Amino acid sequence: MNIQEIAKLAGVSISTVSKVMNGKDKDIGEETREKVMRIVEENHYMPYAKFREKERIVNHFIGLIIKRKNPYYTELIDSIEDALKKNDFYLIVYTVDYEKKEIERALDALKKRGVSGVLIDSSCVICSNREERPIVYLAYGEDFENEQKNTFYFRNYEAGRRAAEKLLKAGHQRIGCLLSESDRVFLKGVKSVYREQHYPKEAVTSYLGKSMEDVIENGLEICINDNQSAVIAGNAEIIGCILRYAEQIGMKIPEECSLLCAKDDDILNYLLGGVTAVSYPVRRMGEEAVTHLLKMIIEKQESEIVRGFESMMQERNTVRDISRKGTFGKIAVVGSMNMDSIIEGVLIPLAGETVIAKNLLILPGGKGANQAVGVGKLGGEAYMIGRLGRDVEGRIIYKSLADNGVHMEGIEFDECAASGKAFVHIDKNGENAIVVYQGANENLDEIQLKRHEDIFKDAKYCLLSSEISRAAMIAAKEICRTTGTEIICKPSAIEKIEEEILLGIEYLVPNEKEMNHIFPERKMSMEEKAEKLLKLGVKNIIVTLGKSGAYLKNEKYSMYFEGNPFMAIDTTGGADAFISAMAVALSERKELIYAIIYASYAAGITVTRYGVQEAMPDKKMMRIYQEDIEKEYLKKMEEYKNEKNTGAW
Ligand code: RIB
Repeated sequence: MNIQEIAKLAGVSISTVSKVMNGKDKDIGEETREKVMRIVEENHYMPYAKFREKERIVNHFIGLIIKRKNPYYTELIDSIEDALKKNDFYLIVYTVDYEKKEIERALDALKKRGVSGVLIDSSCVICSNREERPIVYLAYGEDFENEQKNTFYFRNYEAGRRAAEKLLKAGHQRIGCLLSESDRVFLKGVKSVYREQHYPKEAVTSYLGKSMEDVIENGLEICINDNQSAVIAGNAEIIGCILRYAEQIGMKIPEECSLLCAKDDDILNYLLGGVTAVSYPVRRMGEEAVTHLLKMIIEKQESEIVRGFESMMQERNTVRDISRKGTFGKIAVVGSMNMDSIIEGVLIPLAGETVIAKNLLILPGGKGANQAVGVGKLGGEAYMIGRLGRDVEGRIIYKSLADNGVHMEGIEFDECAASGKAFVHIDKNGENAIVVYQGANENLDEIQLKRHEDIFKDAKYCLLSSEISRAAMIAAKEICRTTGTEIICKPSAIEKIEEEILLGIEYLVPNEKEMNHIFPERKMSMEEKAEKLLKLGVKNIIVTLGKSGAYLKNEKYSMYFEGNPFMAIDTTGGADAFISAMAVALSERKELIYAIIYASYAAGITVTRYGVQEAMPDKKMMRIYQEDIEKEYLKKMEEYKNEKNTGAW
C-alpha cells in the first residue's frame, strides 16, 4: 500500500495524506484527519516514524532475532508466526550466530524497518542505543541475566536433569550421552544429577558431536557399549544412527540398552514402538511470548514479566526399568580387595630357594573385587561390600571397580589398616601360588555388613569368598539366610572349612586342591567328596578342574564338563571369572548347566592374559563364543537325556 492508494481510499489528495502523516494538519478538518488515520492503520501502511510516534499508530510488523543453532529454530518460528497471524501481525526474521554484537546490529536493522516490537533469542540483555520499543526475550539455555525482564524461558539444564532422574529411577547407573554441540547445557543437567547422587564421573560418558558425521565416526563407539545400560541421544537423527549401529553390533534396544531422546520429534512415535523423549512446550512459549509482546505494544504498558516453562517426559517404550531386576539381577559380592604384585618366573620358589623374576606387574585384584568386576563387565549388577585402606592402592582398586560398573556404596575405607595385598607367583606353565596379606579386608565385620543389609534385600545371589574374616563370612551367611539370597562360595585360603559355613550354601565352587583341604582323606575320590558335601547341606558343588573342565554334583546331576581350547599363560583369577560369569548367567535365569559352560568360557578367556580384572571378558567378547556355548549346552543336554535313559547318570 502506498500513499496514493491511501489517498484514493480516503477520498482525499496525496498532499492531505502527507500533511496528516507529517503533523502539518492545522488546516485539515478533524473528520478528514481521523478518516486518513483509520485507513492508514487498517491497511498497515508504514508511515514515517515521527508520524507514528505522534499518532501512536501501530505498525503490524514484529521482528524476531534467533540464533542459528537454536535447537528449536523451526518450531519457534512456526509458533510465533502462527500467533502473530491470528492477530493480524507479520514476522521479520533475522538469523544470527552467538555474538552479542551481531544481535545488536540485527536489532538496529529491525528498528530501521519500523517494527513495533522485537522477540530476541538471547540469555543476556541486548542494549541498543536507539529508540525504545518493546522487547521480549526467549531463553532456553543457561541462566539469563537478572535484569533481563520480559523473558519467556525453559531451561535445557532442567530438561537434562529430568532425563537423568528418569534413567536413574529406572536403575541405569551408567549411561552414555550422544548429543550435539548445542546440547552442552542439557549435558550439564544430566551430569549434575549423577554427581549429586554420588556416582563417579565415569557414570556418564558423553560425546558432543560437531556434525552427524562426527557423531557417527567418533561418538557411537564411545557412548554405546556394554558398559552403559542406557543412552541419551540429542535428537531424532542421532536416534536413527544409534538404531543402525545397534543392529550392526547385535545389541537389542531396549532389552540390552535403553534409549531416551533429549528432544521430542513426531518421528519418535513410529520408531521401536515409540522412543521415550523429553519435550518442551516450545509452541506454547512462542505463543505466550507473542501475546505478551502485542499487549505491550497495543496497550503501551511497561512490563517486567519473567515466565518459565517446564520440560515434560514423553513416556514411550524405550526406557526399561532395570531397578527391580534385583529379584534376579542384583548380585552382592562380599570378599577381598587386594593390590596384586604378579611375579612371573620360570619356577615358583620352594622353601629356601631364590628365583629371579622375568617380569613384575602390579594390578588391582582380590577375589571379591575380581568377581565384582567380572560381573560388571558381563553386564550384571554387582554390589561390592568390602574394605579398603585409605591409601593409593585403595584408590586404584576403587577406580577399577567403578570403571567396570560396580555399585560402590558397600565399600568402606579403613582409617587404620592398609589395603590388602597379594603376591602372585606364576610359573612358565601359567600355574600360580599366592600369598595374601589381608590388611583392611580383615576388618570387614558384621557391623559393616549390617550397615549394608539393604543391598542383600533384593539380591538373588551373593558371591562370598574367604579371604575375609570367618566372622564376616558367618555374618554374611546369616544375612543371606534372612533375605533369601543364594550364596555362591569360593572356599579358598581356608585350612579346614567348617560345617557351620557350608551348611545351606547353594553353590560351592572349590578347585581340586580346595576339595582336598575340605576333606584331606586320601582314599576318597572327588565324586565321593562332592557327595559328602551334598549330604552336609551344600546344594550344588561345582569343582573347577582347570584345563580339564569342571564337575557338577547336585541332587539331579553328577556331570563332567570338558575343558575348552584356551592356552593358559596366567591361571590367576580363572576361578573368579568362572564364578562371576556363572552368577551373571544364573541371574539372567539361565539353567545351571548352561551357566557352567558359559563360566568355563569366561574363565578360559581370562587365563590367556596376565592379571585378572583386565583379562576378564566383557559381553562383547563373550558374544564371539555364544554359538559354541549354545552348541555345547545342547550337546550336554542331549547326552544327559541319553545317559539317563541308560541309567548311567
Ligand atoms: O583369585 C585371584 C586373586 O586371589 C588375586 O587377585 C589375589 O588378590 C588373591 O585374592
